[in-house]
Amino acid sequence: MKSNAILKGCVGVAVKKDAPRIVVQGGGRLAGELSVQGAKNSILPLLSATVLCQGESVLHNCPNLSDSDAACRILNCLGCKCVREANAVTVDSREVLNTDVPKDLMREMRSSIVFLGAILGRTKQCRLTFPGGCELGPRPIDLHVMALRKMGVNIEEEGGFLNCNAPKGIHGAYISLALPSVGATENIILAAVTAKGTTEIQNAAREPEIIDLAEFLNKCGAKISGAGTGTIVIEGVEKLGGAEHTVIADRIVAATYLCCAAITRGELILKNVDFRHISAILPVFEQMGCSIYTYNDNQIYINAAKQLHAPYKITTSAHPGFPTDAQPMFMALASTLKGTTVFVETIFDNRFRHAQELRQLGAKISVNDRVAVVEGVERLIGADLEATDLRGGAALVTAALFADKTSTITGISHIERGYDDIVGNLQKIGAKISSN
Ligand code: UD1
Repeated sequence: MKSNAILKGCVGVAVKKDAPRIVVQGGGRLAGELSVQGAKNSILPLLSATVLCQGESVLHNCPNLSDSDAACRILNCLGCKCVREANAVTVDSREVLNTDVPKDLMREMRSSIVFLGAILGRTKQCRLTFPGGCELGPRPIDLHVMALRKMGVNIEEEGGFLNCNAPKGIHGAYISLALPSVGATENIILAAVTAKGTTEIQNAAREPEIIDLAEFLNKCGAKISGAGTGTIVIEGVEKLGGAEHTVIADRIVAATYLCCAAITRGELILKNVDFRHISAILPVFEQMGCSIYTYNDNQIYINAAKQLHAPYKITTSAHPGFPTDAQPMFMALASTLKGTTVFVETIFDNRFRHAQELRQLGAKISVNDRVAVVEGVERLIGADLEATDLRGGAALVTAALFADKTSTITGISHIERGYDDIVGNLQKIGAKISSN
């Protein structure tokens, strides 16, 4: 067994003996019901959208995450007043005093680039750090920059900073995206809602979180149509007020808990989830041999057979395809299935880092560039593991639930970016899991 004090990871960071960790005693069958938290990938653009509102907004069903805390800190830094009470976050954006996002806060939240369009829309200028690379490989923002320039924004890069301004105002434009980038689509919408004239986005991202953003903005007075399709049209309006809105359920968290139930050959009722948002995922569970029932519009029941079969091939793609964010948890599950599963990752480079940690448990995974081949094994054995990214971390928790003996997972700050109390939720359905 590895020592927790050894050097780990490509950056060679020493893991301290007392580093926070999740401890899992695997091998038990999970059963019960859980309610799914609000979506991380919705709350971040929604919080940034409040910058555009000359009034007060209330967002309900806000998950308690380190990423949403960081977004609230950015809002406060800009001069908005952002307060959380239980799962509701109230943002008073009557006054936006600053146009710069401090470097430390930009770094804290990887998707902070989504503030760019909103700050520009409200103040016509913005200075923030270039987001740079991250654990999923380089995350370029060329599409964001190209689109904003078409809308009249001057953007200059200087010493790691993006200096942006639109002295003559922002105007509508026809923008055809080379890729249906989620972040670029969000930034264009945010910059376009109060721009002069009409903006049309072709090859827009179609994720449910884009629809959620458009619905909130329309409640605030925006005129956005076509969200959820490849063509989005935004008619600029003079100004936006605030609105009250409930964040949609997190489809990736839903997929995670379904994988946790399936890997323990257990059964689970998931509540507060829109099963249409995971329509590419549910058939994969059925192919494996799980029974899936959807009912009451917002509930899913899964029951896993004792012997599950490999689904052969999982290829990630933009929505409505199989989400790249669910790939790591499915890889954990595939490690325990009868047969071989091939994963093809088409969205990000470097999205198989969890494979190396899963191998520590005894998983048989070979990786070649963007293809991973997983040969199912009958047993995994607990080990000391380190999460190196958010969903990769969730994959380790998933696999540890199946593994005999005890696993410890460090690097849990990655997991806390996207899961609101994963430990407490898994305990509720019978997992022997704790954190310290
Ligand atoms: C969002 C999600 C993330 C999810 C991803 C893909 C949030 C906060 N994050 O990330 O969880 O994994 O969508 O579903 O919502 N690209 C470019 N140039 C750009 C922008 C993107 O080449 O200007 C490329 C990226 O490198 C990547 C692909 O497009 O290969 C998809 O990226 P994008 O859809 O922009 O993902 P994010 O918005 O960063």
